[in-house]
Amino acid sequence: MEQRIGAIAREAGQLVLRAKNIADSVAQKGSPRDLVTEYDTKVQELLRRRLAEEFPGYGFFGEEEQQHDILGKEGFFIVDPIDGTTNFVRGLHHSCISVGLYVKGQMESAAVYNPYYDELFTAGRGRGAYLNGKPLRMQEVGLTESLVLFGSAIYYRDTIPATVRMVEELFPITLDFRRGGSAALDLCYVACGGGDVFFETCLQPWDYAAGSLIVTEAGGIVTALDGSELRLTTPCSVAAGNRINHPQLIQTAQRILEEPDMKGRIK
Ligand code: IPD
Ligand code: CA
Ligand code: CA
Repeated sequence: MEQRIGAIAREAGQLVLRAKNIADSVAQKGSPRDLVTEYDTKVQELLRRRLAEEFPGYGFFGEEEQQHDILGKEGFFIVDPIDGTTNFVRGLHHSCISVGLYVKGQMESAAVYNPYYDELFTAGRGRGAYLNGKPLRMQEVGLTESLVLFGSAIYYRDTIPATVRMVEELFPITLDFRRGGSAALDLCYVACGGGDVFFETCLQPWDYAAGSLIVTEAGGIVTALDGSELRLTTPCSVAAGNRINHPQLIQTAQRILEEPDMKGRIK
C-alpha cells in the first residue's frame, strides 16, 4: 500500500520541481511567518484527487483546507502537501510531500518524498521502513554521539523558551545541531542516520504523522516531549530517537518542563 501512496507522492513532487515564480504566489495564512503558495494548494489538490481515485473510502486530513473530510471515517490520509514551505519559497531545496494513512487510532502506512534528491521514504506498520526500497535500521547511539535535528515551533510562540532551554541543555552534551526547516524530513533523516534525534515543542499532525511511522518502523521511538504517547489528530510536541538516546532526551525535557517558567507551555 505504501508503495502506491509513494508513487502518488512522487507525482506530486513533479509539481514542486516544476514550480516557477514561487515568490509571486506567496500569501500569509495567519501570521507573516506562516506562508502558503499556490503550489501548496495545487499539490494538495493533486494528492486529494489521486488518493481518492486509488483508495476510495478513506478520508482526507490536509494542511491546506478549512474542513477536514474525516467525520465517520475509520481511516484517513494525513497530508502535508509541502512540508518546508519557507525553504520552498526561499529556493532552499529542502522540502517534501508527506502522506500518512491513519486507521483506527494508529498509523498504517507512510510515504515522504523529497523531490530534490528523489528520496522516497516509505513505511508500513509491521512491514518496515525503506528509503528508495532499501530497508532502514536506526543506529543505537547515546546523546553524546548524537547529531540533533530540531524545529523551532515558530507558530507556537509561548513554547520558544522551552526550545531555547532544550538547546542550551543539549548543546554541550551532543555532537552538534541542525535546523533543517522540514519536520517530516527531520524524522526521515533520523530514521536513515542523517541525524540521531529530533525534537520540536509543538507540531501539527500533518508535520509528523507519516515521519513518525518511518522512525518507529526503522526501530526508533517517537513520543511527545514529556514521554507521553504521540497524539496523531491534535497538535503535539514530538521527540524521536533510538532506544538509547530517546529516554535521555525525554529525561532532559521532563527536567526542563518542571522548571517554574516552563510549566504548561508544552502540549
Ligand atoms: C513547518 C516545518 C518546520 C517546523 C514548523 C512546521 P510547513 O511546516 O515542518 O520544520 O518547524 O513547525 O510548521 O509550514 O513548512 O508545512
Ligand atoms: Ca508542515
Ligand atoms: Ca505545509
